[in-house]
Amino acid sequence: MDKKQLDIQEVQDFWSMNPMIYNSDKSESPEQIFENSVSKVRMKGWFRQEPNKPLFSNLIDYSSLKNKNILEIGHGVGFLAKEFIGAGVKYTGIDLSTFHHEICLKLFGYHDNSKFYLGNAEDLPFEDNSFDYVTSQGVMHHSPDTQKCIDEAWRVLKEGCTLFVMLYHKNFLKYYYNKFFKHGILRGEYFRYRSIQKVVEKHTDAHGDRTGAPVSRHYKVSDIPILFNKFSSHRYQIYGGYAELNGFPSARFNIGQFMSENLMQKILKKHGGYLYIWAVK
Ligand SMILES: C[S@@+](CC[C@H](N)C(=O)[O-])C[C@H]1O[C@@H](n2cnc3c(N)ncnc32)[C@H](O)[C@@H]1O
Repeated sequence: MDKKQLDIQEVQDFWSMNPMIYNSDKSESPEQIFENSVSKVRMKGWFRQEPNKPLFSNLIDYSSLKNKNILEIGHGVGFLAKEFIGAGVKYTGIDLSTFHHEICLKLFGYHDNSKFYLGNAEDLPFEDNSFDYVTSQGVMHHSPDTQKCIDEAWRVLKEGCTLFVMLYHKNFLKYYYNKFFKHGILRGEYFRYRSIQKVVEKHTDAHGDRTGAPVSRHYKVSDIPILFNKFSSHRYQIYGGYAELNGFPSARFNIGQFMSENLMQKILKKHGGYLYIWAVK
């Protein structure tokens, strides 16, 4: 097996064993895991939707996608699948994790307008120019070759259509301070791993068995034109969760407690840990 295949196998094993179930227990029912995940996603993302509105409805215009062919890469437990299916799209989801694949088959497999594939974003099993919209939330930075994932999304998108992705932002608050400084310097992990990126990876998506995901890349705004160079245009917006400010400089004494929501949001829209990118083919 070559290095690339080894890496992808490792990534698949990690996400199958440590699915993104938002602190649920794997032994809970699919419906329970789904409900827990939806309420966590709703609670954490002030920027994604207004209360009682569909998840991500500040970022995705569901009404414009009715009857369109939509691909979601790395659907996790399917909280966006549910919104897309509810909006009347023809939904296709693909995920590398056997857990995510199986839970979505159980939850949504019976819908005529949904298909779920177990597969790799770096080598999509779809024809060129076959989707009207592609989205991927917090996925491509976990794959051994992120560029290949973006290029594959470009290949399967129709001309003039949009890819909407979230990638981790290499920001000060989360990347350098909350992850690298606290663990790498204060706890001395830098001297073990000898790499800022490795320290951060150990503490990124460290749920399930509490080790970080095998790959978690973080990007700067200046990386966007390079990553999305095949697309005809792109725009981006930075966002972040309140937890980033509520952990600075420490959880007990943090600057978040002295700030209005308005001010926190202003700061997180410049310095938050997520890069949302809309790229048009
Ligand atoms: C942090 S989870 C995000 C899941 C979901 N989008 C969410 O927000 O809850 C990362 C997901 O990326 C998937 N993933 C990582 N590399 C992948 C690849 N090469 N192909 C397909 N899925 C991949 C994992 O299986 C996992 O479902």
